[in-house]
Amino acid sequence: MARPRVFVTRRIPDEGLLPIGEACDLRTWEGELPPSRAELLEAVEGCDGILTLLTDRVDADLLDRAGPRLRVVSNYAVGYDNIDVAGCAARGIAVGNTPGVLTETTADLAFALLAASARRVAEGDRYVRAGRWLTWGPMLLLGPDLHGAMLGIVGFGRIGQALARRATGFDMTVLYWSRTRLDPAEEARRDVAWADLDDLLARSDFVSIHASLSPGTRHLIDAAALGRMKPSAILVNTARGPIVDQAALADALRRGVIAGAALDVTDPEPMAPDDPLAGLDQCLIVPHIGSASPATRGRMARMAAANLLAGVRGEPLPNPVVPG
Ligand code: NAP
Ligand code: GLV
Ligand code: GLV
Repeated sequence: MARPRVFVTRRIPDEGLLPIGEACDLRTWEGELPPSRAELLEAVEGCDGILTLLTDRVDADLLDRAGPRLRVVSNYAVGYDNIDVAGCAARGIAVGNTPGVLTETTADLAFALLAASARRVAEGDRYVRAGRWLTWGPMLLLGPDLHGAMLGIVGFGRIGQALARRATGFDMTVLYWSRTRLDPAEEARRDVAWADLDDLLARSDFVSIHASLSPGTRHLIDAAALGRMKPSAILVNTARGPIVDQAALADALRRGVIAGAALDVTDPEPMAPDDPLAGLDQCLIVPHIGSASPATRGRMARMAAANLLAGVRGEPLPNPVVPG
């Protein structure tokens, strides 16, 4: 029997590529940059399975080009807003993602961004390297304390909850907003309290976003939401760029509506070097590295490979995305 034909849209760790290569007729995109749209459409033609990254848009055009043999799209990410999940379901194509294995690593980065932006770590580093460090200064690079501060978590799923555990360990008070509420005993056990979004925005010293991107969360943080925040507040986003209206954020930072922001995700990605946010010292920006530890990327690769291999064999995926 012919081996299933699969396309992997970028080199991922060997923990994933090796098992795929053993079982399939594998083509991997070797470029450091993603395939262009035309290259991607050409490469998926006639495939039984594709392993995609969040930089690949899987829409009706791509599914048409792939053709009737396609059985599975395995995303090397927990987020799957790059995939038309309903379109895949309508064609009987399974979709997989990598939940859980990157939760702690991404929460670590969210906390790192929160602490670094509060205590002006990147600004301080630039200050030293620019030769501006002349003496110890009573007023030099002051920033708010983490301990005793109120953290508002928007989207209380796996990563939001993992951030809450870190924050309570740093003596922060935690509010969360999600459509689903924990029961009161569980809230007490975790030392967190639910608040509606407007209330959370108004009371928090730090607001960290952990909701998935969907039509319901696109531009959830717009000019009006930013206007509800404290002038001293810092916004952290490690979820998806389009959840924040980036033009409104730049304007709010420039006018002092809020004090700072720390972003692992932007809209678009990559952020242009001349983006208004890139010119603001009070905005810390890193290039979508939330899950970027070797161990986690290896676990994601294994999980994405397991989804892909189950899919091409017509078996249920270990981690299926259920169309919502
Ligand atoms: P998760 O467990 O599914 O959590 C997402 C949460 O978002 C859910 O608890 C959900 O709660 C909430 N949510 C969804 N739609 C909402 C809406 N309309 N309004 C309010 N809350 C909503 O997912 P996760 O594993 O924590 O990952 C969360 C997101 O982080 C991913 O989707 C991905 O985009 C992003 N991510 C980024 C990185 C990175 O490298 N920066 C790494 C991993 C993940 P309710 O259903 O109760 O509302
Ligand atoms: C990364 O952003 C992911 O969704 O896994
Ligand atoms: C600062 O370094 C101090 O000793 O207070």
